[in-house]
Amino acid sequence: MIRIAPSVLSADFACLGDQVAQAEAAGADWIHVDVMDGRFVPNLTVGPLVVEAIRRSTRLPLDVHLMVENPEPLLQPFREVGADRIPVHVEACPRLHRTLAEVRHLGASPGVVLNPHTPPKAVEWVLSEVDTVVVMTVNPGLGGQTFLPSMLEKVRRVRALRRTRGTNFEIQVDGGIDTNTAPLAVEAGATVLVAGHSIYRHPEGVVAGLAALRQAVSAARPAPA
Ligand code: DX5
Ligand code: ZN
Repeated sequence: MIRIAPSVLSADFACLGDQVAQAEAAGADWIHVDVMDGRFVPNLTVGPLVVEAIRRSTRLPLDVHLMVENPEPLLQPFREVGADRIPVHVEACPRLHRTLAEVRHLGASPGVVLNPHTPPKAVEWVLSEVDTVVVMTVNPGLGGQTFLPSMLEKVRRVRALRRTRGTNFEIQVDGGIDTNTAPLAVEAGATVLVAGHSIYRHPEGVVAGLAALRQAVSAARPAPA
């Protein structure tokens, strides 16, 4: 089953609760929240206060993507306000193994994220600690960027690693996912699609955006297990 996680980064923050509820009603699987600290990436976005408000607007799992340097002190605050899944960047975590264990200890689902320049090898020794490997398909920091086609090969390699290990972590892609790129990502091996612009900025609205993405994915041939 392919999951779709709308990213609220592209939503209208003046009515965020309503935008999240719309995504849930449209059949979203998770809600993706992008946390940026102005250091790991140039942009600044939201903290636990906003995640707490989103938590009150949906029952869906909240996938809180931490694009921050040294995320450890933030794990508990985000968990306390309802983060269910917490992906952290390999590039931001000098003690990655411990950070992932801490996410698990707090009762959330740990994930590890690879920037476009980071090889799959970088996470090889933490694969048994994670539920999700996220392949960034744009450079992190902004919504609405163009998908990097070279990342499809990385998705294939992560999928091959999963096969070799006999484990079942989710393979998530994040950035530039639309009706053209979603089927390519699924055929390469992705199991979770994060999408901001193609859902929240769809000219006919959130329901149409999500439906179009589902339709595009249903025509794809998923990679062999
Ligand atoms: C980028 C974020 C993404 C972003 C994706 O740094 O991690 O989650 O919201 O947005 P789109 O789908 O518009 O590329
Ligand atoms: Zn993200």
